[in-house]
Amino acid sequence: MQTRMWKKLHHPQKNDEAVREAAQLLLDQQVVAFPTETVYGLGADATNKQAVQRIFEAKGRPSDNPLIVHVSDRAQVESLTTEIPPVAAELMDAFWPGPLTLIFHSNGAAAENVTAGLATVAVRMPDHPLALALLKAADKPLAAPSANRSGRPSPTTASHVYQDLDGRIAGILDGGSTGVGLESTVLDITADIPVILRPGGVTKEDLETVLPRVVVDPALAGGTEEAPKSPGMKYKHYAPEAPLWLVEGKDSFFAETLAACKARGERVGIIASRELADALDHDRIIRCGSRRRLSEVAEGLYGALRAFKEADVDVILCESFPETGVGAAVMNRLNKAAEKKVKDQ
Ligand code: TXA
Ligand code: MG
Repeated sequence: MQTRMWKKLHHPQKNDEAVREAAQLLLDQQVVAFPTETVYGLGADATNKQAVQRIFEAKGRPSDNPLIVHVSDRAQVESLTTEIPPVAAELMDAFWPGPLTLIFHSNGAAAENVTAGLATVAVRMPDHPLALALLKAADKPLAAPSANRSGRPSPTTASHVYQDLDGRIAGILDGGSTGVGLESTVLDITADIPVILRPGGVTKEDLETVLPRVVVDPALAGGTEEAPKSPGMKYKHYAPEAPLWLVEGKDSFFAETLAACKARGERVGIIASRELADALDHDRIIRCGSRRRLSEVAEGLYGALRAFKEADVDVILCESFPETGVGAAVMNRLNKAAEKKVKDQ
């Protein structure tokens, strides 16, 4: 399959044409990648089973993992759900368009492979002009997971999508780098107390400004602790090309860990904040923002995970960040990407 790339979509008129063409491909049951404010999504008509099937095939995604449906207005939310509870209305007022996915009871309008047979459906309104224009032009809700090959870091540029999916999808709308850099927060509002199923761009602290109570799914903490015990799982999520070690402790401990790797003759890549990077004497370092502004770290993280190639490094040492605000999402992804954790005793 020839993958069409619509480039440099900054000019409004050129955008219109590209968006029209991309929307037509979607109506022809093809899949098209598009930018959102979080990461690039791989979209298909959420009401069409065959179109959605193409997403799973292009990504190599397990069919029991449900997809998020993207909408451009509340009428589309109503078209997918049995009811919109008051708490959902409040959350949509506060955070949409934006990086918050809400789990509703499904009315069955989404294709069965979108929800993987569940009675619920995940919905969000992305905060990106190209995504919203595409949704309006297609006039359909779009199922869209992150536009990476399953297991790889999510794409934050069109060229990341191209690396993973060239020849496997109909097209890519290039809208430059995404802003948030990490996926949306997934919040289950079908229970009495809303549950964060995946930390993301809207933080727990943000949600607490609207919700009297919100809890984090206990499986999140459990899952990360279990990862090293099941080797088959270690490269399953967000995996870079070389093993990643998550280093926890003072900067001096990071420097000692680096020295030990070098003493063993290992070629080391480093992912670190500007502050730590400046304190280390090493040349293969990807800086991802300041540790005092975790939104910068979130923005740079997936690009950093893709930066080191298997041929160039034996191991990637990565800094640990505080789990406050968007740091919770950053550390959730890093724990999944890590082969092991190295802690200062
Ligand atoms: O920021 C994002 O959310 C990006 C952009 C493209 O919008 N999309 C994204 O999709 O990250 P994906 O497929 O990579 O992740 C979807 C997550 C998965 O963890 C999936 O298990 C969960 O949402 N999910 C989807 N439907 C669900 C449901 N009905 N109940 C529980 N979890 C659900
Ligand atoms: Mg994904």
